[in-house]
Amino acid sequence: MNIIHIIASSIQQAVPELNIEQISIRIEKPKYANHGDFAFPVFDLAKIRKQAPQAIASSLAGKIQDPWVMKTEAVGPYVNFFLQKEKVQKEIISNILAMGKDYGNLNIGKGENVVLDLSSPNIAKPFSMGHLRSTVIGTSIANILEKCGYQTVRINYLGDWGTQFGKLIAAYLRWGSAESVRENPIPELLKLYVKFHQEAENNPALDDEGRLWFKRLEDGNEEARSLWKWFREESLHEFQRIYDLLGIRFDSYNGEAFYNDKMDAIIERLKDLELLTLSDGAEVVELDESLSLPPCLIKKSDGATLYATRDLAAAFYRKAQYNFAKALYVVGQEQTIHFQQVKAVVEKMGESWAKDMHHIPFGLLLKDGKKMSTRKGKVILLEKVIQEAIELAERNIAAKNPMLPNKQEVAKQVGVGAIIFHDLKNYRLNSIEFSLGDMLKFEGETGPYVQYTHARASSILRKASWVNDGDITYSGLKDDYSWNLSKLLYAFPETIEKACAGFDPSIVAKYIVDVCQSFNSWYGHEKFLTEDEEKVARLSLVYATTLVIQESLSLLGMSAPDEM
Ligand code: ARG
Repeated sequence: MNIIHIIASSIQQAVPELNIEQISIRIEKPKYANHGDFAFPVFDLAKIRKQAPQAIASSLAGKIQDPWVMKTEAVGPYVNFFLQKEKVQKEIISNILAMGKDYGNLNIGKGENVVLDLSSPNIAKPFSMGHLRSTVIGTSIANILEKCGYQTVRINYLGDWGTQFGKLIAAYLRWGSAESVRENPIPELLKLYVKFHQEAENNPALDDEGRLWFKRLEDGNEEARSLWKWFREESLHEFQRIYDLLGIRFDSYNGEAFYNDKMDAIIERLKDLELLTLSDGAEVVELDESLSLPPCLIKKSDGATLYATRDLAAAFYRKAQYNFAKALYVVGQEQTIHFQQVKAVVEKMGESWAKDMHHIPFGLLLKDGKKMSTRKGKVILLEKVIQEAIELAERNIAAKNPMLPNKQEVAKQVGVGAIIFHDLKNYRLNSIEFSLGDMLKFEGETGPYVQYTHARASSILRKASWVNDGDITYSGLKDDYSWNLSKLLYAFPETIEKACAGFDPSIVAKYIVDVCQSFNSWYGHEKFLTEDEEKVARLSLVYATTLVIQESLSLLGMSAPDEM
């Protein structure tokens, strides 16, 4: 059942000038519930017919007849539609129950591949708030794309290459100790790196030493390689604990180092295409003035390659390997120019797929209005923050529901869910304030609120010992609360479609808050377990609601506990 299509067809019989498609795109949802379920504005028709809109609206309202439509009303230049609640609602609910977890699946992607570059922390540096945002936003976008029929490849493009590793090796050999690094890898490596910079201010020879070690690393020197490998493993091990807490997975950890031997081919091609120019001894690609982009640096005067060189190699490799329909880079907005440059170079190289590369930028996480910084040794250890959220959730649960079995597991789902939801409910380009207290509240637009609503609905079903046995012989519901909820549930597929088109999980997050609010209003006015002829219909709608909440939360990367 496609409600818009039904309404459009009923209009079309009285409006031969427009086809169903043209009518459908004009149908709106009225702002006020007393204006009906849908509205058709007649402005355009008035122009075509050269008549007053009001007159057209009232004549149209008189002509429309459809078994799904209870009545129509002309209000000014609109024809308002009131649907046959019971009939339509029954159809909506049975459809959701029949589809189960597949409800909302779309086939926009037709099985094509989308490569997502997400998370991508830097080895030997703390996992920053920016990396957290990239991880959470990227994962949700990937889930949404899969729901829409794409295949996704989730790539953690680790920052594991660059001149800084030469410095780190030099610093480690001078001042480091294996035990301390093993004990406390990231803080210890960071300390060495910071010390290197401090010392180099008075001793410029250190910089040469760092460069030398990077050169050795690039040339495959055994000592350099094995230290680098070790730093990488230790760091990854630390990051993995965060990924495990968040329940995040990747398909590939091919980071910058993976492209070390793949850059020459790209540089050769750039040469062949005569795109490289010399600028102060460095090789660059000049980008068209019209784009007002600075030249893209490909090779430094000392022959070292750069971040952009590796991203170019990665883009070509991914195209060859995955033949992607889209390549998404979920990276903070401060790297916007970099991604514009890389894309512009691919374009200049004559690759039509450059247009499929999209930078998906996002804003900052703030603490008391200031950027949460991980530089200058001011390390905020993300793992600690997540643990704190879990502990807070545990305390809330202990106060609310002390008898709950598996409290700890639920606390983890709630604590982690709170962080994820808090991030995703805001449009990604907005900067957001990181406040554990706010995000863990059970009221308002929070993760716990949504999860709690799900648990509440599940508990009704438990008490009723309800099973989905495919019984749809019930009559529909008559009240407006359940009707509003049903209409919202009906909007799930179109919501996903919008989220997919805009790479925007906040659309799903806001939607699910609406669903929960609507469910809770109904909850406050209804006795679910009363034995009457509407009971099956009521419980079916409760069940449909749990399905939609579960599916939405899973798109956001969250769990939906049955009890909390
Ligand atoms: N490691 C980089 C950073 O922390 C992010 C990498 C983003 N992805 C990319 N393909 N450049 O800033």
